[in-house]
Amino acid sequence: MRILLATTLLAAVASPQQPTGSPAAAEVPTFTEHIAPIVFSSCTRCHRPGEAGPFSLQNYRDVKKRARNLLSVIEDRIMPPWHPAKDYGHFRNEMRLSDVEIARFRAWLEAGCPEGPQDKLPKLPEFPPGWQLGEPDLIVKTSAAYPLPAAGRDVYRSFSLPVDLPEDKWLTAIEVRPGDREVLHHVLIFVDAKKQGRVLEGKDGKPGFRHRRASRSPMIAGWAVGGQPEHLPEGLAIKVPKGCDLILQSHLHPSGRNTEEQTTIGLYFSDEPPKRSLVSIQLPPFFGFFAGLNIPAGEPDFVLKDSFELPCDVDAMTIGGHAHMLCRSMKMHAVLPDGKHVPLLHIPEWDFDWQSRYTFAQPVRLPKGAVVHAELHYDNSSNNPVNPNAPPKRVRWGRETKDEMGSVTLLVVPRHAADLRKLRRSIREQARPRRRGRPR
Ligand code: HEC
Repeated sequence: MRILLATTLLAAVASPQQPTGSPAAAEVPTFTEHIAPIVFSSCTRCHRPGEAGPFSLQNYRDVKKRARNLLSVIEDRIMPPWHPAKDYGHFRNEMRLSDVEIARFRAWLEAGCPEGPQDKLPKLPEFPPGWQLGEPDLIVKTSAAYPLPAAGRDVYRSFSLPVDLPEDKWLTAIEVRPGDREVLHHVLIFVDAKKQGRVLEGKDGKPGFRHRRASRSPMIAGWAVGGQPEHLPEGLAIKVPKGCDLILQSHLHPSGRNTEEQTTIGLYFSDEPPKRSLVSIQLPPFFGFFAGLNIPAGEPDFVLKDSFELPCDVDAMTIGGHAHMLCRSMKMHAVLPDGKHVPLLHIPEWDFDWQSRYTFAQPVRLPKGAVVHAELHYDNSSNNPVNPNAPPKRVRWGRETKDEMGSVTLLVVPRHAADLRKLRRSIREQARPRRRGRPR
């Protein structure tokens, strides 16, 4: 299957270079030969029954029926949903159509959507049912199903996951299984060291509690619609301390029918502590709590910046950002001691609905003395279509979706294990002076 797709795409790449007038150039793209491979590999995973896409894209009829609409979302690069800018960092599981694929789709539409020979149709990809990474080490579920009406506003709700681990565990992956894939849009998972979630759970008469979380509880994982579970690279793992619970923060999106959502999470642990330790470099620290995040009403470009000089050589493994509705873009790059810029992540159009963490295709080596820079831009004007306030209001740091926060987090491993303490100390020190201040 893989090979078949690859050769079909190669053929697609090759033919535009054919001299005009040759038989190949006159060849019109057809569904079975050229379009099905694109759709099956980039769209069908989410656009099939029971998945989050609002309609199926599994055969000629499905695709032809909406061809114009499909072309418009792929030309605008809204679909497949992939938010990092091109060539600014390279990641595993990138979902991006090439310019050639997009041009093919247009040519096919303009030719009247011909179907093509049946024997050329690739097989629909198989999506195995059940846990994608195999049986998890621990399965946890929210306490009860949360009722979600057919229509109305999106719901942001937190749920307590009372895991109360008997010992420290090393997390390598999570897999999220929505009760109803059409409504669960994204989740963030936090450590709840003080078990506060249990106290809040169900207090207002419904499962879960209002979108809120304990301060500074570290986020250990995130998932958005269509996200593929994967283990951390190179035997790495994140510590989940003994005795803690977890909090699941969910974004639910009404689907046009009354339903309910009860989410199940599979946690995968490693048998032994990892040999190398992941260290989180969050800029600004504490999701910007001490960074002066205070955005006047109407301000179209409020900028939050921070930087950190690496005290030792590191390998950067994963990266991800977090912010709320007013954020418009975020970027992280490093400047090496020789002045060279290393792009890490650029999300030119931040979308709160698609929180993701990205694993670099190859670990990014950053030497001692390199300076990591993060920059986030916020638009609190009425030109921001998702501004939660109309007219705009002053917005400060806070945990509610209508408040703001923001940072970009790089997970790194010190190249030499002996540097671990030094690195942790520098990170603490860089965060410390800000602790004294209060959010302005
Ligand atoms: C990772 C999952 C995922 C993949 C992959 C994906 N989609 Fe979607 N798509 C969605 C979801 C979810 C929605 C519903 C809109 C939303 O919630 O943002 C959607 C909505 C759409 C819409 C309706 C958008 C609108 O505003 O009318 C179109 C059209 C679409 N997808 C086409 C495609 C095409 C074409 C591809 C492949 C090139 C694709 N999608 C790949 C998840 C996906």
